[in-house]
Amino acid sequence: MGKMEMKPAAGKLGVLMPGLGAVSTTLIAGVFNVLRGEGEPVGSVTQMGTIRVGKRNEGRNPLVKDFVPLAGLSDLVFGAWDIHGENAYQVAKRSAVLEDRHVEPIREQLEAIVPMDAVFDRKWVKNLEPVAVKSGANHYELVVKLQDDIERFKREKGCDRLVAVWCGSTEIHQEMCDIHTDLAKFEQALRDNDERISPSMIYAYALISMGVPYANGAPNLALDMPAMTQLAKKHGVAIAGKDFKTGQTLMKTILAPGLRARSIGLNGWYSTNILGNRDGVVLDDPDSFKTKEVSKLSVLESILDKGLYPELYGDYHHKVRIDYYPPRGDNKEGWDNIDIFGWLGYPMEIKVNFLCRDSILAAPVALDLALLLDLAARVGFVGVQEWLSFYFKSPQALPGLYPEHDLFVQKTKFKNTLRHIMGVDLITHLGQDYD
Ligand SMILES: NC(=O)c1ccc[n+]([C@@H]2O[C@H](COP(=O)([O-])OP(=O)(O)OC[C@H]3O[C@@H](n4cnc5c(N)ncnc54)[C@H](O)[C@@H]3O)[C@@H](O)[C@H]2O)c1
Repeated sequence: MGKMEMKPAAGKLGVLMPGLGAVSTTLIAGVFNVLRGEGEPVGSVTQMGTIRVGKRNEGRNPLVKDFVPLAGLSDLVFGAWDIHGENAYQVAKRSAVLEDRHVEPIREQLEAIVPMDAVFDRKWVKNLEPVAVKSGANHYELVVKLQDDIERFKREKGCDRLVAVWCGSTEIHQEMCDIHTDLAKFEQALRDNDERISPSMIYAYALISMGVPYANGAPNLALDMPAMTQLAKKHGVAIAGKDFKTGQTLMKTILAPGLRARSIGLNGWYSTNILGNRDGVVLDDPDSFKTKEVSKLSVLESILDKGLYPELYGDYHHKVRIDYYPPRGDNKEGWDNIDIFGWLGYPMEIKVNFLCRDSILAAPVALDLALLLDLAARVGFVGVQEWLSFYFKSPQALPGLYPEHDLFVQKTKFKNTLRHIMGVDLITHLGQDYD
């Protein structure tokens, strides 16, 4: 099998983000800093990760970005929507993720990124006060206004292609219902101003129907519904969700597969976090937290499957808490107490204390998703991109399939997909043919 046909990564790639907050400004400022030689894109697998090609004794381990043709960082043009009207410089200063040495020298570049007015409704994110929002007689009019924004952005910035990543706040929990299960019903509901359609769904509809590949960085129900996957198929668009896998959940999907791999049992996993940024304010609302909680809980349920391993994982207690604590700002602290058991049921404990920086971990994930979704589009991949599960807390799976949460299985699938695209042998790790 040869290399897949693909369009070249030529020209500018517009990266559109609903939400100009801590994650998106850390991403934008980070890229500008890397381009002027001030820091490395640490955490970005596309920029710093390698991929083995061929056998172990061949010594071929190119960087991912040298193996697959990706847009270069200097070809990226950023755009965003937000409710506050502040430019990227103001948001970066206020968010205080980056020090002045990474913000002041690029002040003009950041000031030039001014968000477009948002589609927003306080019903969905209660703890924020909007100042710059679009109005419309119904949801469908808002879709059209977003589509105008998208078209104008592409034209004015001279972009060859666009991708989008939701970096907006976590909306309140919404169960999937009939209007989400069918595209025709969803389109009717847009016209009827149905209250079960959230702003993030309106962005998703507008972007996908304009042919823009889209990733969902938050746990909102937006891309993960049949109406949206039907829309993606109809327009030949790649989509991926949801909820960036960064701090505590990343640790969970590193540790839990290890316990399972060695048949170590689990009695309980208690996770708590303190967080003081705007994401923390939003998650202080129990309805928004519920959305996050569902996303965070699903990880262990899937990796430590009660049905497959009743003696090891049939009866463990899993609890996740997030508390808003302003003094911490973006520097989240997480504690995990893991009650495990071994041979003959003897109990043991693992304690993890992770002092992390939320947006420092999320920015490279958002960057990789933008670059890889653009690659997916250029090779003609359509619909849910399971190979990007690697980056998500609640990976979206194809209909009838369970999502894969194990980071190491996700990594194998991710890298083998890149090998498949480039027409080189997939790596099975069988190792029987060395002599
Ligand atoms: N940082 C992480 O490690 C991480 C991990 C997983 C998921 N996330 C999610 O990523 C998202 C962004 O995180 P953040 O720390 O940048 O939060 P943030 O609060 O700093 O930024 C979110 C921005 O979205 C804006 N917003 C809200 N609703 C909007 C709408 N309808 N249209 C346009 N803008 C809207 C807000 O005004 C805010 O500026 C959150 O949903 C968060 O839960 C973050």
